[in-house]
Amino acid sequence: MKIVKGFRDILPYGNKNNESSFIWGSITDQLKRIMSSFNYEEIITPVVEYDSTFKKGIGEDTDIVSKEMYEFVLERDSSLPEGSQKYCLRPEGTAPIVRSVIENSLNKVKSINKLFYLGPMFRYERSQKGRYRMFHQIGAELIGSDQILYEVEMLEMAHKILKTLEIKRFSFQINSIGNQKSLNNIAEAVRIFVKKHKNTIEDNDYKILEKNPLRFLDKAIHKYEFDNIPKTVDYLDKKSLKRFNELIKILDNIKFPYQINNQLVRGIDYYNDLVFEATSKDLGAQDALLAGGRYDTLFEKFNKSETSSIGFAAGVERLILASNNNNLKNSLDFYIIFKEEDLVQDSLILAFKLRDLGFKVEIDLEKRSFIKQIKLADKSNAKRSIIISKNDFKKSDVTIKDMNSGEEKIINIRNNFQFFIELNKVESNA
Ligand code: HAM
Repeated sequence: MKIVKGFRDILPYGNKNNESSFIWGSITDQLKRIMSSFNYEEIITPVVEYDSTFKKGIGEDTDIVSKEMYEFVLERDSSLPEGSQKYCLRPEGTAPIVRSVIENSLNKVKSINKLFYLGPMFRYERSQKGRYRMFHQIGAELIGSDQILYEVEMLEMAHKILKTLEIKRFSFQINSIGNQKSLNNIAEAVRIFVKKHKNTIEDNDYKILEKNPLRFLDKAIHKYEFDNIPKTVDYLDKKSLKRFNELIKILDNIKFPYQINNQLVRGIDYYNDLVFEATSKDLGAQDALLAGGRYDTLFEKFNKSETSSIGFAAGVERLILASNNNNLKNSLDFYIIFKEEDLVQDSLILAFKLRDLGFKVEIDLEKRSFIKQIKLADKSNAKRSIIISKNDFKKSDVTIKDMNSGEEKIINIRNNFQFFIELNKVESNA
């Protein structure tokens, strides 16, 4: 038996990238706390959607829809009439969130919905470091406002993720692509510009250009050292340019660390005006940590009226790869060691009590020898061991040993576990 290609197990003991389910859990907890601190609320949508959600939402000729979607029909449904909906594993989170907001009329519950999600996404891509066929995104969507200050808040939230995970070498790029008309003008300018350099361009890239110049800008232009590449800002209408300049002014005021990248366009069709991306040199070829932008027209693609919206998503695997905050240790608070075998039940009861108090406790229930238990405790990553012997236990005494310093002290546990309650208070405030 083998795992499916491009998919990964996340193991309790970690792997070569210092990734373990414990680190995974701590980092995803931190990410959720950041979202919550901005008062974004979690929305959980299914992993399976109808393919039309993405075909309409993302664009039929994007890479995601045309090459990377896991689409399927059930064998027992295979007699479905031509043109019936297929299922698919979601390749991204934004289109399903919009589908859910519409279907559940969330915009009637609140005029502005601040939503976040964390979950697996699926894309049939060539797998390599940082690029997997099943990966996880943490994403945020603000639905129902075109306020520039919400853009500032969204950028700040994305930046906070990078700061909290101690991602050091990143670049945060922003751009404006304007409305559909400006995008068409940019596409035409890119087509004319690149055609002048036709001889230096690889055939495949030229095909991309012919099909969609914006995809060329997104995927290929960085391979060539062209001067004077058309800048998206030169093709913006007055309103979009004004918005972008206002945003930049505020970002400068709050000293937000950004760079303008006038060639940044996104590989998904639903964006307008602000687009942004954070990349890290530490990631290698797949260097995008997070990306997003404004998508005011996505609701219209689902036959609803225009609804101003903005969002971003970060790849959790890539955040962990680039994080310098992932040497978190999964340590035990106590390893309980009993000297005589007939103390095993009392020891187990002590373990239950300590667990009730919130401590993480291990005890060897194979009833191995005292020496063997000491060795196991040494090997474990326990902060302390508790040694129970018959003589001491008669007086309700136990010995607590600090596994780092070797220091030992005798504690009486008759007195309502006061020592442990105090210890818990100190450690949970640390
Ligand atoms: P995206 O740029 O396709 O945007 O993906 C966002 C992030 O997901 C990327 O920057 C990257 O970190 C991660 N990612 C994408 N593909 C893979 C992969 N195969 N393996 C590992 N990580 C990957 C979106 O998905 C939009 N929905 C973002 C958005 C939200 N825009 C507005 N709201």
